[in-house]
Amino acid sequence: MPSNKIKLGFVGGGNDSLIGVLHKVAAVMFDRYEIVGGVFSSNSKINISTANNLGLDLSRVYNNYEEMAEVESKLESNIKIEAVCILTPNFLHFPMAKTFLMNGFHVICEKPLSVTLKEALELKEIKKSKNLVFAVTHTYTGYPMVRQMTKMISDNVIGNIQRVDSTYFQGWINDIIHDKDKRNSTWRLNPEVSGISSCLADIGTHAFNMLELVCGMKVKNILADLNNLYDDNPLDIDVSVLVRMENGCKGTIRSTQIATGLENNLNISIYGSKGSLSWEQENPNYLYYYTADKSLQVLKPGHFYNSKLSLDGTKLPAGHPEGIFDAMGNIYRGVARAIRKEKIKKGEFPTIDEGVRGMDFIEKAVESNKKGNIWIDLES
Ligand SMILES: NC(=O)c1ccc[n+]([C@@H]2O[C@H](COP(=O)([O-])OP(=O)(O)OC[C@H]3O[C@@H](n4cnc5c(N)ncnc54)[C@H](O)[C@@H]3O)[C@@H](O)[C@H]2O)c1
Repeated sequence: MPSNKIKLGFVGGGNDSLIGVLHKVAAVMFDRYEIVGGVFSSNSKINISTANNLGLDLSRVYNNYEEMAEVESKLESNIKIEAVCILTPNFLHFPMAKTFLMNGFHVICEKPLSVTLKEALELKEIKKSKNLVFAVTHTYTGYPMVRQMTKMISDNVIGNIQRVDSTYFQGWINDIIHDKDKRNSTWRLNPEVSGISSCLADIGTHAFNMLELVCGMKVKNILADLNNLYDDNPLDIDVSVLVRMENGCKGTIRSTQIATGLENNLNISIYGSKGSLSWEQENPNYLYYYTADKSLQVLKPGHFYNSKLSLDGTKLPAGHPEGIFDAMGNIYRGVARAIRKEKIKKGEFPTIDEGVRGMDFIEKAVESNKKGNIWIDLES
């Protein structure tokens, strides 16, 4: 019987990259995809060596994404790539995603979706007109306890939301930022590659996306204060944002890469009129539920009390810790279901709408800071 696996192509994600291994493992986790080709790196030797490590037919490994789209779109439907994951530095997301959509491929794109809101909206239009699936990999949304937190808030377990805080603290840029040569040669600090923001684009978008996801509510307007630390560093590395949500409640989004010694500390805390919920990425299997009249409750994956979507994202019986590979695997599985037109649940994977919102957030935060820290409405 012919395989029903989705034929997946990679752009970026070579053995020289940070995020490639996560996508390689996540894609094959539920037997829904087969990696068949791509352009894995801008370095031709690494492109070929990555493909060799995967055991790929080198006739499906290309010199650049334009060639890949042109050749693959002419192949017989039983062998050609159906979906492409885009794992390159930010400025390449838009031209690559546009080219693949125009040629009829589904797209799984890393965040931020693009470098401007205008580009993001254009991609949304093309995706709609071509009727293709488009995911933006906000990885952390795939964790079972994030799904459970979202469901508990939508079920009104904590009552009316009255305060929100989303923080993403890292310290890795300390090794780079205080050294002039290093800070001038890192792509994340180069506006031509990263876009108008570094820290916001890199991790602030995750904090923003998580906030809107778990609250089931949009951020209405923001006031941002960006910190570049050095005058010759053109982009933010440390950001504080005041937010007001659609329901009028207030809170913060804070993201930084100069929190010395911190690793990947994404924390989302939502305070309601009846209780509060708090989750952090470095201990993803614990969801903290606080109320005024009972002692702290810690909810964990795989138990009957979790939502259907949370349980769907748990592969092993309770007590077998799952991590970031599993979270991304859950996203890939949701995308596979959408591509194969199977029934999907709301929240199975972040879509292009979330990608557009992320770009809106970045642009308005940069504008707020530039105009002297003023309140600005999000428009998307
Ligand atoms: N979802 C997440 O949690 C998460 C985490 C880290 C990075 N990211 C995002 O993933 C993207 C890549 O980040 P990274 O840290 O892996 O970067 P990286 O610099 O480590 O790797 C980039 C990869 O893209 C390749 N590349 C560059 N130009 C190319 C081209 N023209 N054609 C084909 N390949 C090309 C490079 O050779 C390399 O393999 C960024 O947009 C980043 O924001 C997301």
